[in-house]
Amino acid sequence: MTTTAKSEKDRVVIFDTTLRDGEQCPGATMTHEEKLEVAELLDDMGVDIIEAGFPIASEGDFAAVHEIATRAKNAVICGLSRAAFKDIDRCAEAIKPAKRKRIHTFLSTSPVHMKYKLQKEPHEVLDMVIAQVTRARGHTDDVEWSAEDATRTEHDFLCRCVEAAIKAGATTINIPDTVGYTVPEEYFRLIKMLRDRVPNSDQARFSVHCHNDLGMAVANSLAGVNGGARQIECTINGIGERAGNAALEEAVMAINVRNDVLPFWTGINATMLTRASKLVSAATSFPVQFNKAIVGRNAFAHESGIHQDGMLKHTQTYEIMTPETVGVKQTSLVMGKHSGRHAFVHKLEELGYKLGDNQLEDAFTRFKALADRKKQIYDEDIEALVDEEIAHAQDRVKLVSLSVIAGTRGPQRATMKLDIDGRGMLEECEGNGPVDAIFNCIKTLVPHEAVLELYQVHAVTEGTDAQAEVSVRLAEKGRSVTARGADPDTLVASAKAYLGALNKLMVRRQRGGVAVSESRVHSTDVG
Ligand code: KIV
Ligand code: ZN
Repeated sequence: MTTTAKSEKDRVVIFDTTLRDGEQCPGATMTHEEKLEVAELLDDMGVDIIEAGFPIASEGDFAAVHEIATRAKNAVICGLSRAAFKDIDRCAEAIKPAKRKRIHTFLSTSPVHMKYKLQKEPHEVLDMVIAQVTRARGHTDDVEWSAEDATRTEHDFLCRCVEAAIKAGATTINIPDTVGYTVPEEYFRLIKMLRDRVPNSDQARFSVHCHNDLGMAVANSLAGVNGGARQIECTINGIGERAGNAALEEAVMAINVRNDVLPFWTGINATMLTRASKLVSAATSFPVQFNKAIVGRNAFAHESGIHQDGMLKHTQTYEIMTPETVGVKQTSLVMGKHSGRHAFVHKLEELGYKLGDNQLEDAFTRFKALADRKKQIYDEDIEALVDEEIAHAQDRVKLVSLSVIAGTRGPQRATMKLDIDGRGMLEECEGNGPVDAIFNCIKTLVPHEAVLELYQVHAVTEGTDAQAEVSVRLAEKGRSVTARGADPDTLVASAKAYLGALNKLMVRRQRGGVAVSESRVHSTDVG
């Protein structure tokens, strides 16, 4: 890596939208507590702006944005709103407690969106842009305006909208590739064209927001920066609508590692990237693909003999960055059944966890139970255990016990005891296999209409005594939630994962609100 003197003009501001664009993708729902935890980590990591949610979408979104705004230390807290005045006012109310706050308001500008989605003429859209930015500026002097579907917008019209938004007071202009359609060269030219042609372009910061439908979100974002943008909108692990958004960890590390050709800098502490990836994966229950750049399990693994030989001779033969720069710690054998509380707390600190007293107590008890069953306990085991503890601390329905009869001589049968709001309930069910029998028990004890969309198992570490990690996705009335469960027994992990998803659905039902995907598309009504 080359280090050059840092100048403000080369600073790229990192705008994280994990809690908004990331959270709105199917199945990635996070609980209120998980959102707070993710926001705290993003703030600690040096993210400049945290888009904490879409306050008008539901009471739950509003409450999360409001509490994140209350707790934020350094980051600017931002909320999203459509053009409607009631959206903008609600957003302003949600971010009010923040020391530094931003309203992000958007409107579609492409012919296809204006005609079919908004059913408005271009001149009406232009008026709406001025009205929405003016309204937002009435609440805060940090206003971002986005031209939704900008990459399919006619250039002259885009220039007029951008100019009008800046004139009305927008301080950041975002040019989203909403449908992941552009390519690097074209996006570079688009950003450059706007900066060159819009007369007041020097009065705003330009921002890139790229979706990954063609796998080019990060490449496009960096091309946009080369074209003059100085804000990247991105998410941890690249989660987001459809194929996702630009991955924060990839954009940041591309700038760090290839500073010779990307002479920019960010304020991100890259050694926290791995922790952020794991936390978001645990909170959303979205697994990170093994070969994912920067944070995938194999990102620094060298399997082939030739590569291993080269690495032993000199690490730079096959490594362009060291695992330590992104916070990967060498997998270590951590502890066994003789390890005490002090060592456990120390290990948690090293892994980046801060637990409250009760959670720590529960996690330590579970660690001891695991150590009784599993000889060698690795960092990954502790992470799976604690992540589960955090994710399920507030659960209304908990697994108390489970026994299963499985094998070739069916029918398979499960006996399960659940704690439902403090009451113990027992059930015994048959099924077409042990997992089916378990899920039938849950359905009998907690009747629900949700449909199982995904059931996936993988091992946390290696060996036959490894913990199994099961992911379950349930869908109900157009909303889906995912949860994970970990245990050395795959069947117990399956029950925990299913119950985790059910608990999340219950929270969603309680907090109410429309599915964000429903609400985000109707940006027609301006107040
Ligand atoms: O992709 C998109 O266009 C968005 C906007 C709301 C910024 O997410
Ligand atoms: Zn988006």
